[in-house]
Amino acid sequence: MIFKLPEIEIEKLSFSFEELLFKRRSIRSYLSNPLSENEISKLCFAAYGLRNPFGYKTVPSAGALYPMRIYLFLKRYKDLENALFLYMPENHSLKFLFSKNILPELVQAALNQDFIMDAPLNFIITANFGITMSKYGKRGIRYVLMEAGHISQNIYLMATYLKLGTVAIGAFIDELIKIILDIKEHPLYIMPVGYPAE
Ligand SMILES: Cc1cc2nc3c(=O)[nH]c(=O)nc-3n(C[C@H](O)[C@H](O)[C@H](O)COP(=O)(O)O)c2cc1C
Repeated sequence: MIFKLPEIEIEKLSFSFEELLFKRRSIRSYLSNPLSENEISKLCFAAYGLRNPFGYKTVPSAGALYPMRIYLFLKRYKDLENALFLYMPENHSLKFLFSKNILPELVQAALNQDFIMDAPLNFIITANFGITMSKYGKRGIRYVLMEAGHISQNIYLMATYLKLGTVAIGAFIDELIKIILDIKEHPLYIMPVGYPAE
């Protein structure tokens, strides 16, 4: 099942970019309210969306190889509950993967960072190192890690713009995340997103 996300409409900032930078911070407590389709769409666009028809994205990528995959775990999306999706930048859509409440397992894999459980959305940013290493060898490792940072910052800034809260989580057991999501790629960040409760 593929779900097309709402098209990105270009809005004028209602405040300055400097204000956005001052406001950006890590938020670790969230209300249970679900996010709107538009909010999910904007967050995905910021994370790894296409910025032109030639495949270039909203984040820089060494050699424009784009080795990352962005997964979303949503407590609720349309008629689905507790569903894992893969973001597909090519057609700005979500590909449904499976439905299962993996939140308790995610919390455990992330060393009991239990605020993961409260967020209506959790991004899991993953990488296929081989894609970038096939061109750049060992140096490709640092390029991929740098790219994860760009994605994370874009999510932080879009969340701040939308008055949502998020935090970049790097502390988790990689092998467990791979098993929970049933993926071969390497997880680099988990980013819960929700309306701030603080
Ligand atoms: C690579 C990396 C890993 C991080 N891992 C975690 C984490 O596992 N859990 C967490 O709560 N915050 C994590 N953070 C967020 C930092 O704690 C946070 O950015 C820092 O305290 C500064 O606060 P600020 O983001 O509000 O400016 C991580 C940040 C980075 C860049």
